[in-house]
Amino acid sequence: MKKMLVANWKLNPENVDLAVALAKLEDKKQVIICPPTPYLSAVGNVIKRAKLGAQDAFWEKEGPYTGNTSPTHIKSVGAKYVILGHSERRNILQEGDDAINQKVEASLKSGLQVILCIGEDLDSHQRGEKQTKLFITDQIIRGFKNIKWKDLRNIAIAYEPVWAISTSGSGLKDAPEESIKIIQFIKDFLRERYMLKKPVVLYGGSINSKNAENYLINDLIDGVLIGGASLDAKEFNKIIKICLER
Ligand code: 13P
Repeated sequence: MKKMLVANWKLNPENVDLAVALAKLEDKKQVIICPPTPYLSAVGNVIKRAKLGAQDAFWEKEGPYTGNTSPTHIKSVGAKYVILGHSERRNILQEGDDAINQKVEASLKSGLQVILCIGEDLDSHQRGEKQTKLFITDQIIRGFKNIKWKDLRNIAIAYEPVWAISTSGSGLKDAPEESIKIIQFIKDFLRERYMLKKPVVLYGGSINSKNAENYLINDLIDGVLIGGASLDAKEFNKIIKICLER
């Protein structure tokens, strides 16, 4: 399988012109560009090789839900993917597993491919591997609740240890061999519990051009979810190059 390179721009860049310029520079095969929602159309209009993704979607299609964006809205402006359950939404906006599960269900129903983020917090990480595994399997079980087996195949899991995200402030760095061990565990769990033959699992957390190879070299990792480094086209293109050489 070709590796996925997901650019999660988060709340950046500052205006649509900068977003369009950045998108043109990152418009490569295997790349999924996830800009802020208001830029989806403009970015979608200029990319030819990359795919378009959103950073969130609400669970209702339409109705009195001020400020939300539905999976059908996202789809109608050309997005094929949606990131759900990112730790910044879980932590800053108190988005819980039930809400995330509803979003997963609605997005799949609309035909979007879901990138479901999971990952332990600093406290669980410090309590050790057993707690980390409990934390992330709980997130998967709750996120997957009531989803039909045939739809589960349209979900990629993004394992992002919260403390390893560049802006988390923990000051800690993840070791690739540690995350690879957890990704192996996630894949085994998805195979055994959900009978998924080829579970797709990405890694995210401070990926840059210096460490990308250590992750992308491993066949277990189906791609990477990149925050900070995806805002710097030069840096991001170095990562693309590393990925294409794999
Ligand atoms: P960084 O690459 O900035 O650590 O962000 C990771 C992330 O949260 C991607 O979704």
